[in-house]
Parts: sequence; C-alpha cells; structure tokens
Amino acid sequence: MNTVYRLCYDIAMQTIELQSNGVEDTKRYATQIAKILQAGDVVILTGDLGTGKTQFTKQCCVALGYEGAVTSPTYTLANIYPLEKTNILHVDFYRVKSEQELEETGLDTYMDSSILLVEWGDKYEDLFEDYLKIELAYVEGSLTDRVLTLSYKGTKWEKRFKEINFLRK
Ligand SMILES: Nc1ncnc2c1ncn2[C@@H]1O[C@H](COP(=O)(O)OP(=O)(O)O)[C@@H](O)[C@H]1O
Ligand SMILES: [Mg+2]
Repeated sequence: MNTVYRLCYDIAMQTIELQSNGVEDTKRYATQIAKILQAGDVVILTGDLGTGKTQFTKQCCVALGYEGAVTSPTYTLANIYPLEKTNILHVDFYRVKSEQELEETGLDTYMDSSILLVEWGDKYEDLFEDYLKIELAYVEGSLTDRVLTLSYKGTKWEKRFKEINFLRK
C-alpha cells in the first residue's frame, strides 16, 4: 500500500492533522473515530462541498452498527438512525438560516441520547458547549487527496482527543 499516513500535532496538542489519499482512507478514519463516540457527543464536520462530510458520517453509521440506508440530510435538515443503546443524529446546517430556526427544530431534545454528527456545523458552533471538530479540505491539484484537521472544544474532549493520538495506522 502506497498510502502515506501523516499525523501532525501542534505543540499544545490542540489539533491533529490526518492525510487522506482517497475515500477509503477517510472511511478508515471515520471507523476509528466512531469507536470513541458515545451518547451526548457532538461532532462538527466542516469543509467545502464534496470534501467528504457525508462519506465520513455514513461510515460512522456503519462502524456504529447501523445497517440501514444513510442519506444526506441537506433537505431534511436531520435524519435519525436508531442504534441499540443510542441514536445517530445526522444533521446538516447548510440550509439553516438562523439560530431561531434551529431552536424550532427541537434538535436539543434528542442531543443527550444521541451522537450528533453535524455537517456545516461550524455555522452555529457557538451553540455547543463541547464538540470534536473535523475540518476536511481539498489538496490543490488532486481529486482524491484531503486533509482532515481535528480540533475540539470543552474539557470532555481533552482526554479523548489524546486517544486519537493512536489512530495512526
Ligand atoms: N479522500 C477522500 N475523502 C472523502 N471523499 C473523497 C475522497 N476522495 C474522493 N472522494 C469523493 O468525494 C465525494 C465526497 O462527497 P460527500 O461526502 O457527499 O461530500 P460533502 O458531504 O462534504 O459535500 C464522494 O464522491 C467521495 O467518493
Ligand atoms: Mg454532505
């Protein structure tokens, strides 16, 4: 396998950079990250259209044992996938126009009992007390390379963020 895995930390361990050289790499990262997710977690997915936010989420669902179809919630705002002990709440903020609109969806009623994966989540990230953030970015000149930059907010993620240290293949 020619894929080069690169993992970089800034000095304070505030960000982790993962290199993906194809959708299978991104899925592998999603599988590994899904393993540490639990009810009440918020994962913000951000990055330009087509960088892989939905692919990442779909693979999280697979890794967490959801066997049904996973579709993009761009038009439905939110999809909920029941698991044995929790739910996956797959949300897309792309079309949400205001905080008020968001509040009216009643999303927070499900949050404690679900793992929330939210595409374009950075739009209203201040609403969340803690989250893991995954920023996906294109690499110039390549159709299949991406850089995934992981960061977090909140003490809850401090310890678990360090566990991501061991994601390297
Ligand atoms: N390294 C990669 N990581 C993720 N997706 C990739 C990668 N290389 C190519 N792709 C392709 O890019 C597209 C990403 O689509 P999608 O997940 O819907 O993006 P988004 O939700 O960010 O708009 C998919 O067709 C996927 O196969
Ligand atoms: Mg998407």
